[in-house]
Amino acid sequence: MPSQRPVNRGARRAADLVKWSRYDADVLPAWVAEHDFGQPPAVAERLHGLVDTAAFGYHETTGPMVASFCRWVARRHGWSPEPALARPLTNVVQGVWACVEAFTSPGQKLILSDPVYHPFQNLGSSSGREVLRWNLVRDTTAGHAGSGWNYDLDALESLLASDPAARLLVLCHPQNPTGRALTAAQLARIVDLALEHDLVIVSDEIHFDLVHPGAVHVPTLTIPGAESCTVAVTSGIKTFGIGGLCCAVAVCGNERLADGLATVPGNLLTLPNRLGCEASIAAWDTGDDWVDDLKRVLDANRHRLVDRLRVELPDVGIHLPDATFLAWLDLSAWSPGERPSTWLRERAGVACESGPRFGSGGEGHVRLNFGTSPAILDEIIDRVVSGLGGT
Ligand SMILES: Cc1ncc(COP(=O)(O)O)c(C=O)c1O
Repeated sequence: MPSQRPVNRGARRAADLVKWSRYDADVLPAWVAEHDFGQPPAVAERLHGLVDTAAFGYHETTGPMVASFCRWVARRHGWSPEPALARPLTNVVQGVWACVEAFTSPGQKLILSDPVYHPFQNLGSSSGREVLRWNLVRDTTAGHAGSGWNYDLDALESLLASDPAARLLVLCHPQNPTGRALTAAQLARIVDLALEHDLVIVSDEIHFDLVHPGAVHVPTLTIPGAESCTVAVTSGIKTFGIGGLCCAVAVCGNERLADGLATVPGNLLTLPNRLGCEASIAAWDTGDDWVDDLKRVLDANRHRLVDRLRVELPDVGIHLPDATFLAWLDLSAWSPGERPSTWLRERAGVACESGPRFGSGGEGHVRLNFGTSPAILDEIIDRVVSGLGGT
C-alpha cells in the first residue's frame, strides 16, 4: 500500500511555489510539470547542513554529483555511464540547446516529434535551424481513445531518406505530454537509422524514473550503437520536485560527442550551483524507497483519473500514460478553442496546460498533472466532470 502522501496546499502556496501561486486560491493547479510530494527528508537535511556551514564559495561538488547520478542510474536503470563523459549542467533545456549548437550548423535541420514539451517549439527559430516534423501518431489499437500516441518508425525512415540535411533528432523519452515510453525495439531502430544517416540523437530523459507498471524505461545509451550517436540529458528535478535548484547532467556516448559538446563556449554551458548538486546527491543516494512509494501513488492516480473520466465524462479522449504524472486529455468534443486550458479553467476551476502550445496534435487538448494527493486529484476530477457536464 502506498502512503497517502497528504499535500498541504496552503503551505505550498505560502512557499511561493509557482504551481500553487500562479492562479487564484480557488483554482486547483494541474499545470506545470511538478508533483506535490516534495523530497526525501535527506534532501532538506543536507541543505540545512550546507547552510549551517555557509560554504557558498566556488566548489567542486559537480564530481560527487555526477558520481551519485551514475550510481543511481546503475541501480535504477541498469545503465552505467562513463563519469568522464557526463557533463554537469544547470538544466536539461540548456543541454538540449547546447547540443543543437554543437552538432548542427545554420542551414542544417533538426527533427522534432509533436506534440512535445512546449519550449522545444522554439528550438528552430532561436537557433536558425529548420525543423522537420516526425510527429507522433494516434494509436487507436486499444480501447477507448486507443492506447495513446506512438512513434511511426517507417515515417522516420522515409523522412531521413527524403532529407539529407537532417542532422539531429530530439527525443523526449519518456514523452511529455503523451506519457509514451519508447520500447527497446523502437529505440534500436531509431539508433540504426541515426547511424545510417549520420544523425545525432539528443535524448531528453528527464522523466526517466517515473515509468509505470507495464512499461520500463530503456535509457537510449544502453542500446547497442547508441554510444556513437547519442547525448542523453537528464536530471533529478522531476523525480524529486527540486526544479528550483537547477541541476542536470548531459551524458555523451563517446569522446567525439563529448569533444563536440565542449565546443559550446563554457560560459553558455553553465554548471549547477552547490545547492542543486547537494540536493541531487542526497536524493539519489537515499531516495530508492521514497521513489518506489511515489511511483505507487502515481500509478494509482493514473488509473483513478482514467477510470473515472471514462465513466463520468465519456466524451473526453484519454489514455493511460506509460510514464510521467501527466495526462493528455482530448477535449475536442467541446470545441474548446485556441486556449483549451483557459476554457477549462473558466468552466471547472482547474488549471492545466493548453495543448496547442505542444505543437501539432495539441489542438483541443489539455495536459493535466496528476502528481498530487489522491484527495486533491479527486477534487480535480470532480470539478472537471461537473464543469463539463458529466455525471
Ligand atoms: C521533457 C522535459 N524536458 C525538460 C524539462 C525542464 O527541465 P529543466 O528545468 O532542467 O530545463 C521539462 C520540464 O517540464 C520536461 O518536461
